[in-house]
Amino acid sequence: MLKSIARAVVRKVIDRAADLVPPMLDPRLRSQRMNLPAIDRAAHVLKGKPRVLVCVGSGLSAESGVPTFRGPGGIYSDEEIAHLTHVDTFETDREHMLRWYQERREQLHSIHPNPGHHALIGLSQTGEYTVSTQNVDHLLEAASDAAGFRPRIYHLHGSLLSVRCHQCDYEVEDLHLDLSKQPGCPKCGGPLRPGVVWFGETLPEDALEKSMEVARNADVCLILGTSGLVYPAAALPETARRHGATLIEVNPHLSALSDISDVVIRGKTGEVLPVLLRRVQDLNQD
Ligand code: OAD
Ligand code: ZN
Repeated sequence: MLKSIARAVVRKVIDRAADLVPPMLDPRLRSQRMNLPAIDRAAHVLKGKPRVLVCVGSGLSAESGVPTFRGPGGIYSDEEIAHLTHVDTFETDREHMLRWYQERREQLHSIHPNPGHHALIGLSQTGEYTVSTQNVDHLLEAASDAAGFRPRIYHLHGSLLSVRCHQCDYEVEDLHLDLSKQPGCPKCGGPLRPGVVWFGETLPEDALEKSMEVARNADVCLILGTSGLVYPAAALPETARRHGATLIEVNPHLSALSDISDVVIRGKTGEVLPVLLRRVQDLNQD
């Protein structure tokens, strides 16, 4: 009896002490042991004022509750991804496709940037950063607004916030329109669709060309939460490497880009990036 009371008191003291530890340093909240030596190597690469291309994939938003496409925790089979994100499906299974995209558009109202987004915006203030994202959410912009600082952000696969006509050049940022009702274009009457890029379509020329240009001139390429399987986005780190950049990957799992990365940090971006940011800031103060 006495022993169990004593244990409960000790437990309480430990819990209270743990409350004072910043969440990212609390080992109970970490899913994997933090690879501090790898983070330290990455921080040394990122100190000073380097030119950095950040290649972002769906893993960065995973801790905001947006499921990834592939990898452990990804919720789609390869067939589902191929079906739901291919331009042909707009002809063959439009109702299903638009319902799925509308659900994802509605999800945007309730998701928020996670510590990974915030730390990336913090990092981007320590050098010349450009972000090329495959994500179609607005979480990097939301984190930028919170910080009052926005790096250059290119959306390679478009944005869920916007709606455009499948037939003409009509495009508008509108999150209230219900795409599942299959609305028509006010300009030409054609079918409206989400402002994203589908397999079988070309990427926005400006976003891709400018990202490639940055890749060719980058000192560092930071690869965050992407499987590295989808081209041309996956060609950006490869291009950066060919032109002499040092590649740093943050991903809890092996990706198609792990092999060519110089520093691999196995961990979640929401856990690793805040620690990396603090280390870079410390090194820059020395
Ligand atoms: P994928 O879904 O292919 O890969 C997600 C990656 O995130 C995997 O490598 C995971 O290991 C990693 N991951 C999971 N949780 C993470 C976390 N907390 N922190 C860091 N990494 C984590 O995502 P993308 O590479 O972005 O395209 O997929 C690329 C494209 O495939 C998407 O833009 C989409 C899809 O088809 C289109 O719709 C055109
Ligand atoms: Zn139109």
